[in-house]
Amino acid sequence: MHVVIINGSPRVKEFSNTDKILGKFTEGLTENGTTFEQYEVSDRKQWDAIRTAYNTNKNILMAIPLYVENIPGLLLEFLETLAPKNDGTQLSFILQGGFAEGSQLRCGEAYLEILAGELGCEYGGTLAKGDNFSIRFFGEQTRERVTSPYKEMGREFASQGNFKSEACRKFTGPETFPLKIRILVGTMFATVARKSFKKIAAGLGCTKSLKYRPYK
Ligand SMILES: Cc1cc2nc3c(=O)[nH]c(=O)nc-3n(C[C@H](O)[C@H](O)[C@H](O)COP(=O)(O)O)c2cc1C
Repeated sequence: MHVVIINGSPRVKEFSNTDKILGKFTEGLTENGTTFEQYEVSDRKQWDAIRTAYNTNKNILMAIPLYVENIPGLLLEFLETLAPKNDGTQLSFILQGGFAEGSQLRCGEAYLEILAGELGCEYGGTLAKGDNFSIRFFGEQTRERVTSPYKEMGREFASQGNFKSEACRKFTGPETFPLKIRILVGTMFATVARKSFKKIAAGLGCTKSLKYRPYK
């Protein structure tokens, strides 16, 4: 099997969480001889090559970060340049986001199923998982821990040919957190996480308070 993988993040490869996820996913994918080629929508110079790969291959996998509850605008702009295929091509998706509950990803997932049909492709399912906000900020060890479960999903895709198995469904984790956890997470965001966001903001050169609201 040969898979064309399209990273739909608007972030350049170096800074893209999706790219780090794909790194692990493709380790599992290729273990038993499956091959792949990967493209980045963030690099407009690749758009012609992505279109050619999309048009000439039958197994396409789009890996997409959730941006404001759905797919990033740059990816949408690229998708508008594709013509429907209607030749038995399978289109599958990895959908990942920052918030951890599965329910956050369901709107995007429903959209992707419709999208596959609009592009004249068979829907190969969506591997949906959140809790990925900070992958690019993590050190090597934590990044390895957070992304390594995707290796097993790469194996699963290679063996099943799609993301429709029970293992893929379970991979999402809890649909919503129990009330106790929600209260705990809320408290953490207001305290410890705020500190860590401050540190990240300072690292990015931000000199204003996180409460600064210039457009209010
Ligand atoms: C502008 C923007 C909007 C986002 N919107 C959401 C969202 O609605 N839900 C969510 O769970 N994560 C959201 N995220 C988090 C990203 O999905 C998450 O950080 C993802 O891992 C980014 O992948 P990338 O680095 O490959 O672009 C958003 C991030 C950005 C920058």
